[in-house]
Amino acid sequence: MKQFISVKDAPGIDTLIDRALAYKANPFSDRTLGKDKRIGLLFFNPSLRTRISTQVAAQQLGMEAVVFNAGTEGWALEFADDAVMNGSTVEHVKDAAPVLGTYFDLLCIRTFPSLQDRTKDYSEQVLQQFIRYAGIPVISLESATLHPLQSLADMITIREHMVGRKPKVVLTWAPHIKATPQCVANSFSQWANAWDQVKLTVTCPEGYQLDETFTTGATVTTDQEAALQDADFVYVKNWSSYRDYGKVLPVMEDWMLTEERLKHAPAAKIMHCLPVRRELELSGALLDSNRSLVTEQAANRVWSAQAVLASILKAL
Ligand code: CP
Repeated sequence: MKQFISVKDAPGIDTLIDRALAYKANPFSDRTLGKDKRIGLLFFNPSLRTRISTQVAAQQLGMEAVVFNAGTEGWALEFADDAVMNGSTVEHVKDAAPVLGTYFDLLCIRTFPSLQDRTKDYSEQVLQQFIRYAGIPVISLESATLHPLQSLADMITIREHMVGRKPKVVLTWAPHIKATPQCVANSFSQWANAWDQVKLTVTCPEGYQLDETFTTGATVTTDQEAALQDADFVYVKNWSSYRDYGKVLPVMEDWMLTEERLKHAPAAKIMHCLPVRRELELSGALLDSNRSLVTEQAANRVWSAQAVLASILKAL
C-alpha cells in the first residue's frame, strides 16, 4: 500500500480487518517493523481518538511518532498553485511539504472542510497537495470528504459483532446545533458499500442526502422508522447538507435515536464515531446501554491504524 486516503487504497477490506484483528490479538508481533522509521502527524483540526490511537499504533510497530498541531502552531500555509502570496498565508505547501518529506518516512494529515465551497472541499486540495509535494506516503487522519481510518475501525467492529445472516446496517442522520462535515458519513457509506459482508441503508431528512458517489448501492430513504426496522447495526451521525452545501436545514421531526425508535430492531447495536453530543444526537440511555459499541469502535482505532501503518511500512 502506497497511501491511505480512501477505501480504494485498501488491499481488500477483509485483508485489512484480518491484519487489524491479528494485531488486536498480539499487539507487539511486529514491534521492529518500524525500527528507525519516523511518522509525522499533522493536525490542522482538533482530535482525541485519531491522534492518540495513531501514535499508539506507530509505537507498537517500533516507530517514532512526532505530532505537530499545524493548524494552531504552524505557519499559515498556501495551497493554491501560482498564488500571489500577498495575503495571510506565509508558506506554500510546495515548499513546506518536501521539507516534511525529509524529516519523516510517513506523513499523516488531518484537515477539515471549509463547508463554504463544495467544489474546493470535494477536490481535497490540502490532502492532494501534500501527496503531490511530500514525496513520502500520505495517510488521511480525516480529510474534507472522508475518514478512512475511522471507517476501517467501524468495519472491524461490525465484523466482531456479526452473527448469522448478512447484517442490515443503517446509517441514520442525527440532529446537531451546528454545521458538521459529511466525511464520516461519506466514508462509512463508501466502505459499507464496498464490503460485500453487509447491506447498507442510509436515512436522513429531505435535503441531507449525501453525495451519490458514496451512497450508490445503498438504500437511501427519508423514512427513518422504516429504515430502522430489523436493523442489526445503527450508525448515528450528524452531517450538514451536501445539496445546500454546509447548511443546517430546518427539520421538523425529531431524529434523535432513542430506545423507543428501536422498538422494531430489538437486536440493533449502536455505533457512533465520537465525539457525540448526548441528548442531542443520541440519547444518553442508549449510549449507556449494552447496545452501544462506541467505546469498542474507538478502541478499534488502534488496530485500524496499526494494520494500515504496517501495510505501508511493508511496501516502503
Ligand atoms: N472519531 C474521531 O475521529 O475522533 P477524534 O476527532 O477525536 O480524532
